[in-house]
Amino acid sequence: MILVKNIGLLVGIQPEGVHRLQGPEMSQTGTLENAWLLINNDCIDSFGDGIMPNADTIIDARGGMVMPAFCDSHTHLVYAGSRDGEFLDKLAGLSYEEIAKRGGGILNSSDLLHSTSEEELYRQSMVRVNEVLAKGTGTLEIKSGYGLNPEDELKMLRVIKRIKDTVPAQIKITFLGAHAIGRGYTHEGYVQEVIDMMPKASEYADFVDVFCDKGFFTVEDTARIMEEGKRFGLIPKIHANELAVSGGVQVGVQHGALSVDHLEQTTEAEIQALKGSGTMPTMLPGSSFFLGLPFGRARDFISAGLGVALASDYNPGSSPSGDMRFVMAMGCIKMRLTPVQAFNAVTINGAYAMGAGNNAGSITPGKRADLIITRPGWDLTKICYTYQTPFIHKVLLGGNTFMPE
Ligand code: NIG
Ligand code: FE
Repeated sequence: MILVKNIGLLVGIQPEGVHRLQGPEMSQTGTLENAWLLINNDCIDSFGDGIMPNADTIIDARGGMVMPAFCDSHTHLVYAGSRDGEFLDKLAGLSYEEIAKRGGGILNSSDLLHSTSEEELYRQSMVRVNEVLAKGTGTLEIKSGYGLNPEDELKMLRVIKRIKDTVPAQIKITFLGAHAIGRGYTHEGYVQEVIDMMPKASEYADFVDVFCDKGFFTVEDTARIMEEGKRFGLIPKIHANELAVSGGVQVGVQHGALSVDHLEQTTEAEIQALKGSGTMPTMLPGSSFFLGLPFGRARDFISAGLGVALASDYNPGSSPSGDMRFVMAMGCIKMRLTPVQAFNAVTINGAYAMGAGNNAGSITPGKRADLIITRPGWDLTKICYTYQTPFIHKVLLGGNTFMPE
């Protein structure tokens, strides 16, 4: 048993069985002042504000805030090398699509990945994993999608699995074979190749994803790949409406996608399509910021009674950062969410969007003890307002203090 004592403010308390928040629910979270929290094995056992129970180990929160660790439901952080050359192209005025058309973009990462050994890919990716865990992420989704042929997609999936088996955080794995058309394939030939990869990919992955957008995969491709994924037990999560109103939201909802992500370009029709569904709209302010795209209309979604998740999209081309505190701050500063709404979007709703709502994302007995202990004097508003001042005192993952190598 581990006792966290002297908690100035415990934030993110939710009753058992609450796995996502929608509409007005997004504006509330349970709090407790002057609290303690007890950890048993790697889970939250109990908490309170009265007499403290006994424990073998004591962690002193020194009056800081304790909140659930971030749940980042959308990343591509396994990649090789860097795309800093394209960064300079972007500064010179080229758009994301123009860079992709010139052989840059996802295909550039796919070439780099092809010529990098599996060991080296693991090593480079672990630097980023350690970075984001130190910044307070406790549940993390990682996608394949820079392999774009059977051999290299499997190389990526093995690396993600190795990360999952190594780190103290919870990792969810997504097969994104349909990220771009692999080199040397026709469009149709590559869609068939993705279908053919499904049995092997499903040995590693929890989810199947498709980049359903202008210039990438069509609504028909997306439906076909989702259905094949489902045959092998994979749940769909879709990239939609980043570059254009793609129809990806509607097809995702129709085929039971757990989340539809990006949504920089959305109309009322997408909002209507999501109503009453189990699909979590997920917005990625890091890529809006980096690419200069519109920010998602999170407030309109919430006003329509929907929940919203925010994720980092950590990747070398459109969002080279996995800092979920910055994502939360952008949720406020650029999308005009309240700090509590932004907090729910990066914790409990993020957990839901990667099938971890049952064991992560809130302060609830039985959930994983993935916690951020802040320095004294912090609250949710201050995290978003003074958005670059260091605020973390300690990160606990599965009840243990996280110490990056
Ligand atoms: O989510 N939109 C597609 N995929 C990534 C970008 C990947 C890349 O440019 O390498 C994204 O933004
Ligand atoms: Fe993405």
